[in-house]
Amino acid sequence: MHKHDLVYLTEDASHDAAIEHINEEAFGPGRHTRAAARIREQGPHDLSLSFICADDGETIASVRMTPVMAGGVPGHLLGPLAVRPSHKNRGIGRELVRIAVEAARRKGSEAIILVGDPPYYGPLGFEKVAYNALTFPGPVDPGRVLVVPLGDETHARLKGTIGWRK
Ligand SMILES: CC(C)(COP(=O)(O)OP(=O)(O)OC[C@H]1O[C@@H](n2cnc3c(N)ncnc32)[C@H](O)[C@@H]1OP(=O)(O)O)[C@@H](O)C(=O)NCCC(=O)NCCS
Repeated sequence: MHKHDLVYLTEDASHDAAIEHINEEAFGPGRHTRAAARIREQGPHDLSLSFICADDGETIASVRMTPVMAGGVPGHLLGPLAVRPSHKNRGIGRELVRIAVEAARRKGSEAIILVGDPPYYGPLGFEKVAYNALTFPGPVDPGRVLVVPLGDETHARLKGTIGWRK
């Protein structure tokens, strides 16, 4: 393998320590208090829809997907998404999002939801959720709640609380 061959792999338990390090580096100690993190504390993420990127065997980026019920819509919460500073701006974040959204779509997910920057996620298929349509277990900036609508009338059905689902 060439030194800088990037590979995208489904997450497994062997990636845990590296992912923890990447997220700590990207978001710092306050990351556990964010509203999206509180949903993730309600139950496990779906390993089969979560992916890492490795460079020469070293895990350098991660995206996780957590099953949620959002109002009446069975979907997935995307995040955290983080890329090590040494590997930014090479399309890795974008590719991880693309892979995760596609995998969830194939599994029947009706909505990929996240709290994030519209300028980054808009070109990746994310649209703004109607202001305050979803109630998170903590404060969120309503302008940063985004969705890839994959089901019928997804936007209209995204009304109510969002929380972990089995
Ligand atoms: C945000 C992040 C995941 C992007 O990963 P990446 O692999 O560097 O991104 P990509 O290479 O796919 O895309 C890079 C492009 O996105 C842009 N971009 C990066 N962060 C952005 C943001 N917050 N808002 C708008 N654009 C952004 C870059 O300027 C670059 O633009 P260009 O293609 O016009 O040069 C990464 O920078 C990161 O881990 N940041 C810290 C954690 C974080 O903020 N995660 C997102 C949570 S919402």
